[in-house]
Amino acid sequence: MDKLVVHGGPVLHGPIAVSGSKNTALPLMTAAILAPGITTISNIPELRDVHTFSNVLRVSGAYVDYDAEAHEITIDATRIGHPEAPYELVKQMRASFYMLGALVGRRGKARVSMPGGCAWGPRPVDLHLRGLEALGATIELDEGYVVASTPRGGLPGGTFRLEPSSVGATVNILLAAATAKGGSRIENAAMEPDVIVFGQMLQAMGAQIHGLGTTTIEVEGVRHLQPVEFANTPDRIELGTFMALAAMTGAPGVPFEIANTAPEHLGEAFIEAFKATGAGYEVRGTSVIVTPPETIRPVSIETGVYPGFPTDLQQQWTVLMTQADGPSTVTDHIYLDRFAHVPELNRMGVRAVVKGNVCHIDGGQRNSIQGAQVMSTDLRGSVALVMAGLVATGDTHVLRVYHLDRGYEALEDRLKACGAAITRDVYEENVVPV
Ligand code: EPZ
Repeated sequence: MDKLVVHGGPVLHGPIAVSGSKNTALPLMTAAILAPGITTISNIPELRDVHTFSNVLRVSGAYVDYDAEAHEITIDATRIGHPEAPYELVKQMRASFYMLGALVGRRGKARVSMPGGCAWGPRPVDLHLRGLEALGATIELDEGYVVASTPRGGLPGGTFRLEPSSVGATVNILLAAATAKGGSRIENAAMEPDVIVFGQMLQAMGAQIHGLGTTTIEVEGVRHLQPVEFANTPDRIELGTFMALAAMTGAPGVPFEIANTAPEHLGEAFIEAFKATGAGYEVRGTSVIVTPPETIRPVSIETGVYPGFPTDLQQQWTVLMTQADGPSTVTDHIYLDRFAHVPELNRMGVRAVVKGNVCHIDGGQRNSIQGAQVMSTDLRGSVALVMAGLVATGDTHVLRVYHLDRGYEALEDRLKACGAAITRDVYEENVVPV
């Protein structure tokens, strides 16, 4: 198993480039299933999740070729002869559940494994299932698999209101609605950029979709969609991660460039919170220029659906706030228990405590976090531990970085180019019988 050994202390400098968005790449790859023919998508990051999902598409009958050099994926969905997504792949990556909507949309039927749990507790898919039923699909559960079928004449279409708003359910319903017989309407739809860019790809394929980026999306089903060439968008969560990192590890007053970004995808809440820390924030073309402040002001945040503060950045924000010159809180309203990283940070001497869905951070810990051996629990928790290691005294061994590799391509190489001292080592986990 891999770990990262992070040597704390060096002052980091830009530039660092952002990769293509993981959470947009996966829906884009799924959309290709809807159209017979060859679809090409550029700016696809080389991630574990992209390789896993490529295998999911192959099981259904698609031919998938990923060019890691060019960061480009080619998907030939001419024949989708096996409308299934197996447990052994879906359990590795919950977004594989998008195959339900895609296979219903393409073949009128699907047999897709229910996704497993997640590091921070249950992540239901009830909205996905009820949404497809609202469009006229029949949904049954069979030995851990969702079996979906549609009436002989095709999926009628329908209206469904999401409570709460859900990125994944919006994507899954759109995948089925795009080729339905009739019209569909999604109320309280997700407005995340991942969903907007995914919807724009469907439109490029010929789908008739209106209201992307609003809470009400209307779809007129069309019989056939066309394969396309499409460009994935830069990763907004990587951008937010690197902005926090620059503010806490960069030289005060020295501009730190983050390149290849789409800052408009960050959402106002994150940008306002970031500027309130005293860090400089400037957009220059497709770069964001961060100017690290002399002192980082404490800024409490609460996560929310877009354009609220992204839940995928609350763990990174927590580490930034350990360096602030005062106390703050991080509240997650999306995932009430997304705090498995905090006990690991406590092992590094971080003074933070979780009460309910609120993390209380003391702050005032510049140069008082100690390197330690810590365990990654999930993707964003893993990068938070690397960030803490970069400002710790001594070395931090971040274990189980397979979590990190799901969402950050060659992160240690990019950080080394910014002056970090990080090595990737292999280690054995001694599973001690309890
Ligand atoms: C997507 O997950 C992202 N994953 C997550 O990023 C992100 O944290 C999340 O959206 C919220 O922004 C991908 O895009 C692959 P949701 P998703 O459905 O679609 C509840 C990362 O680190 N809900 O928007 O699964 C759910 O419990 C990952 O990159 C239901 O109740 O999230 C949550 O409270 C982690 N029933 C809320 O909705 C459902 O059927 C939002 O979840 C579905 C969701």
